[in-house]
Formats: sequence, structure tokens, C-alpha cells
Amino acid sequence: LFLLLNYSSPCCFGVSWLFQVDEYLQHLQLSDETLMDLSMRFRREMDKGLCRDTNPTAAVKMLPTFVRSTPDGTEQGEFLSLDLGGANFRVLLVKVVSGENRRVEMQNEIYVIPEDVMRGTGSGFFDHIAACLAQFLEKMGIKERKLPLGFTFSFPCQQTKMDEAVLMSWTKGFKPTGVEGKEVVSLLRQAIKKRGDFDIDVVVVINDTVGAMMTCGYDDQHCEIGLIVGTGTNACYMEQMRHLEMLDGDEGRMCVNTEWGAFGDDGVLDDLRTDIDRDIDAGSLNPGQQLFEKMISGMYMGELVRLILVKMTKQGLLFQGRTCSLFVLNTYYSLMSLSEDEGLAEAERILRGFGLDPTVEDCIGTQRVCEIVCTRAAHLVAATLASILRQIRDNKAAEKLRTTIGVDGSVYKNHPQFSRRLHKMVRRLVPDVDVRFLQSQDGSGKGAAMVTAVAYRLAIQQAE
Ligand code: GLC
Repeated sequence: LFLLLNYSSPCCFGVSWLFQVDEYLQHLQLSDETLMDLSMRFRREMDKGLCRDTNPTAAVKMLPTFVRSTPDGTEQGEFLSLDLGGANFRVLLVKVVSGENRRVEMQNEIYVIPEDVMRGTGSGFFDHIAACLAQFLEKMGIKERKLPLGFTFSFPCQQTKMDEAVLMSWTKGFKPTGVEGKEVVSLLRQAIKKRGDFDIDVVVVINDTVGAMMTCGYDDQHCEIGLIVGTGTNACYMEQMRHLEMLDGDEGRMCVNTEWGAFGDDGVLDDLRTDIDRDIDAGSLNPGQQLFEKMISGMYMGELVRLILVKMTKQGLLFQGRTCSLFVLNTYYSLMSLSEDEGLAEAERILRGFGLDPTVEDCIGTQRVCEIVCTRAAHLVAATLASILRQIRDNKAAEKLRTTIGVDGSVYKNHPQFSRRLHKMVRRLVPDVDVRFLQSQDGSGKGAAMVTAVAYRLAIQQAE
């Protein structure tokens, strides 16, 4: 019925084919009840990560970030930031101006990390980062200045203070050797020292979720959650210190990086994962890890669609059973755009671009697969976000919570339907919370500068 309503060309395909397609995709569609149950499961996982006794075996690590306050608008100064771990590696010069003309100005450069550096040694990797930084300082004419630097390093890290982060494991296709278990700020400092042609002061290292929260926090003081749905997915939020059992002290709040991408790594999502999810995991660089992320994020979404199309084709449901070019496609962006409401002509154009000769049924079937994969991803994120919202509401003992989520990431920003589906489901799962989603403008770059700026402001206030 959905397809008939959407495309109103009932004569082109058989109704029994429609039922077969939807039946095939049924296990990818999660009911409200299932999502509610998932949300409860995630809340238990959060507790497990927060409690001292259960943390060592928890899949969701709930990592302390040592970020204890959001910006208040009085921050100022000039800062450098490095943004590593998203689609691009970037170096930025950020100027934060306070007072009446309160604003943030930025200049940035994107640098490529060659494939051999990505898969090479850790020292080669950090040498490359330091070389890019040198190039940037040269270009900006600031090589002689020793500016404070915020480092956005978007991977799970054990932090003991703001400028120390031990990499627990690489995610999202990064693999330089010998870095896991090491403190990354000192690796960066060593690489800079080795060159000897410039000096900087690394003040903070943060996750990109924290960057998104802090950037939005500069504009909206209600912002206490950061969310990323891009190459990877993750969220952070402001938690009560008394709940962070891994740290001493009960006063105030601290931002916790949930690392929710690892939700399910201990098996708690096995009933919801499909054979396709298992195939994606088996073919990935880190099998058994980041299982929730692999059901959602941009790095895997296109491949999920492709694998489903191949399976459906093999079963004779699409492309007259001929899979040839579907076997080799690297399809992320094209398949993402297939789910746009561009109509069948666009779907046909894209599929023809892959060397296929699609029928109307093939176009409809492919769009349906894209839509369902995207909707599942949005709904999974909604379920875990709902757990965080309930946690914050309970922390404040508020009957009605008004809060803001700072969001960044290519899937959230560029997919035509993802954000709408996410917002709708969050509001359905937690109707008693008044949520505002705020797109973070350049969170990973600006955010690190923001945290550095807040750290500076607090240090000055303490000294006074
Ligand atoms: C991965 C990383 C996490 C990051 C997320 C979004 O899940 O482990 O640290 O926040 O990707 O980039």
C-alpha cells in the first residue's frame, strides 16, 4: 500500500511482488515497542558503564571527558585546532571575540591523509599530522607564535585530565599501528618536537561529540547533549559527578562521552541484528566491535543497502536475478541519494549509472531498501538518545525537561530524510521532553577551540 500511495503506478508491478519485498525487509523495521525496549536496554548499559564495579566489563564505556562547564559567552582569544577522525583531517585557526561583537572567526585547511599513512606506523601518522600543522602555520604566517591548541580526536579514549587521552581502540577504518594503548597528546608533542621548527601548547583533547555540544552551547545555554551521525555515530551529555563512580568527587557535572557505537558488542543487540549486519561486521576492519555504529553510520549505510540488494537479487526479487555490477559497487553517496524524494526517474538514472538496466520495479524496490535502511538508522539513534534524555530529566528531577542537542555529521546534515525521521521518533519516545535539535556549525574545529577557550577563562578566573 505504501508503495502504491507513494508512486501511484499500480499497473507496473504485481501486488504479490510488493508483499514479497516488504516481507523480505520486515526484520529491518522496528516497532515503537521494540524501540522502547531498546531504549531501556541502553539505559541499563549506561548504568553499567557509569558504575565502578561493572565498568570494566561494560560495552558502553561512558568515558569522563574532564569538560565540566559549557561556554558562557565571555570566552575570548586566538586558538588552533586539529580535527582528526571524521571525513577530513583539518587544521584551524579560531578567533573567539567576546563583548558586544561576540563572534567566532575561523580559517581552516583540509589535508589529505594518504592511504599508506593511514595503514602505516603510529609515528609516521603523527609525523604527517605535525607536517600538516607546520604547513598551516607557515601559510597563516604564525609559525613564530606559540598558540594554545585544542585537539579533536574522535575515537574512544581513556582520559585522566583534559590534555591526556589514551586511545582504547581505533574505529571507522583508521588503523595506524602501535597507537592503541598510548597517550595521543604526547605522541603529537613528540612529533612536533622532533621537527623543531615550531612550538605549540596542546591544552585539551576532546571527542567530536563534545565539540558539537560546546559549539552549540555557545549559542544556546540549554545545550547539554552532543550527537554525531556521520562516518561514525556517538553522543555525549552532561552527567552528574555523583553518578560518575569512576572519578572522585560528587559536586557539579561533567561531560561523559558515551561511545555508544560499541552498544551491542557484548551481545545485547543480537536479537535485532540481521544476517546483513553480521556480514558487514565480518567484512570490516574491526570485527566484533562497534556493532551499533555498523547498523547506523555513513561508513556502513551504503554497504548495508548494497548487500540487501544483492541478496534480494539472488532471490529473484530484483534485477531479474542478475547481480553483476551490484557485486562491485562502492555505493555510499549514490545509494544515499536514492532515498531522496526525487522520484523514480532519478532512481533509474542512478541505477543506470551503475551499468544496470532497471525496470520500474527495480527502481521502486531499491528506493524502498534505501528508505528502510535510513529509517532503521534514525530510529536506532532515537532510541538511545531517548535514554540519555530520560537520564538528564531524572537527574534534574524535572517533570518536564527543556533541552538542546548539538548535532553534527554528514548523515544528519546531508541525508534528505534522516533528521526528520530522527526528530519525529525522539518526540514519540519521550513526549514529555521538549527537545531542540541545533546543527553545530563546524563543531569539531570550533568545539576544540571553545573548550580551550573555556579552560583559559576558568584558569584566569581562578588566578584572580
Ligand atoms: C566513532 C568513534 C567516536 C566518535 C564517532 C563519531 O564511534 O569511536 O569517538 O565520536 O565515531 O565520529
